[in-house]
This record gives sequence, C-alpha cells and structure tokens, in this order.
Amino acid sequence: MRLCSAFLRPGVSPDTEEDGEGIDMAIAVYPGSFDPITYGHLDIIERAAAIFDRVIVAVCLNPGKQPLFTMEERVEMIARESAGIPNTEVNCFKGLLTEFVQREKARIIVRGLRAISDFEIEFQMALMNRKLSAEVETVFLVAQPKYSYLSSSIVKEIASLGGDIGDLVSEQVARHLQERFALQSLRDE
Ligand code: PNS
Repeated sequence: MRLCSAFLRPGVSPDTEEDGEGIDMAIAVYPGSFDPITYGHLDIIERAAAIFDRVIVAVCLNPGKQPLFTMEERVEMIARESAGIPNTEVNCFKGLLTEFVQREKARIIVRGLRAISDFEIEFQMALMNRKLSAEVETVFLVAQPKYSYLSSSIVKEIASLGGDIGDLVSEQVARHLQERFALQSLRDE
C-alpha cells in the first residue's frame, strides 16, 4: 500500500534493467525516521542518486516511536529539500522494510554510516533484512566527516534549547523545529 503517493515526483528513469525475477537492480530505497531531515541525510540522498537510477526515500511509520513531526510533515520536508535531486522520490511505509522494498520491486537498501558506533546496529539490521528477504542487499555510504556527528536527535535537542542549528538543517526545517518547540513550550506553561 502506498501511503504517500501524492508526494511522488516524476523524473524516474524508464530504462532501468530488471533481472529475471522482476526486481530492479537500479532502484534503491533509503529508509529512515527523518524526524526531521538533516544535511547529513541530504548528502546521502544526493550521493545515492548519483549511483542508482531511482532512489526512494522511505519514511518509516514506527508505532513504537513518538516522533516530533507527523509522517506527512516529514514526507513534505524531504520532498521540498530533495526537490532538486534527480531520480529521487519520497514515500512512506509501515511494517517491515523488506516488504516495502519488495513492493517497490527494489533490491538495494541504502544506509548512511557515520561512525563505528553506527556499525553494530546497522550490521545487525542488514543481516536481519537479508534473512527476511534473501535478495535484498544493504549498501552503506560513509558520511562526510562534517556530518559524522549529526543526527536528527541531536538537532532536536539543540533546537529545543534554543541553540544554533543553521549548519545542520535547512532554514525551512530549522523554522519548523523552532515553531514546534515554541508550541510545545506554550502548551507546557
Ligand atoms: O532513521 P532510523 O530511525 O535509524 O531508521 C531505522 C529504520 C526505519 C530503517 C528501521 O527501524 C526499519 O527498517 N524499520 C522498519 C521495520 C523493520 O523492517 N524492522 C526490521 C529491521 S531489521
């Protein structure tokens, strides 16, 4: 089920190669929470789009997590931020990532690696995803050093405390964060 097809953009290469199973080797899914999208995520999207014919940025709806932004808000922010990156589209999913990847007839999962500390959990997820779906491959793109300390969580913490996040997220995302925290502090008063 496509939850966010309204956000899909054209510009997808029509001549990608499929293997015998109907799985497209040139379609990559870049999944995440993106709560919210940072410059680190955008860097991975740009670099993935330069490698694969089509990159689907997939926002995960995780009922166990309490995100700051709704799924629609996250999808909208990604769509706006990545509008200039060719062959990129935004979608969202709930449930298993491997099932979404299969539905999209993709084979590749892209993940960013920032530091050794990311490796253990990413390694576990990659192996588990391959167990769930034997044809799925995870490809890691190493974060640029200037983004290696960057995460949505740390951005949210800094923004909630009134710190400068200008180098970490776009102006629009920074504004969304400031508005959201201003609203929260009004509610808490
Ligand atoms: O940005 P995040 O929070 O590090 O992304 C984690 C994400 C969404 C990629 C991961 O939690 C995920 O794939 N969730 C979907 C549910 C699933 O398939 N779980 C099994 C993964 S091994």
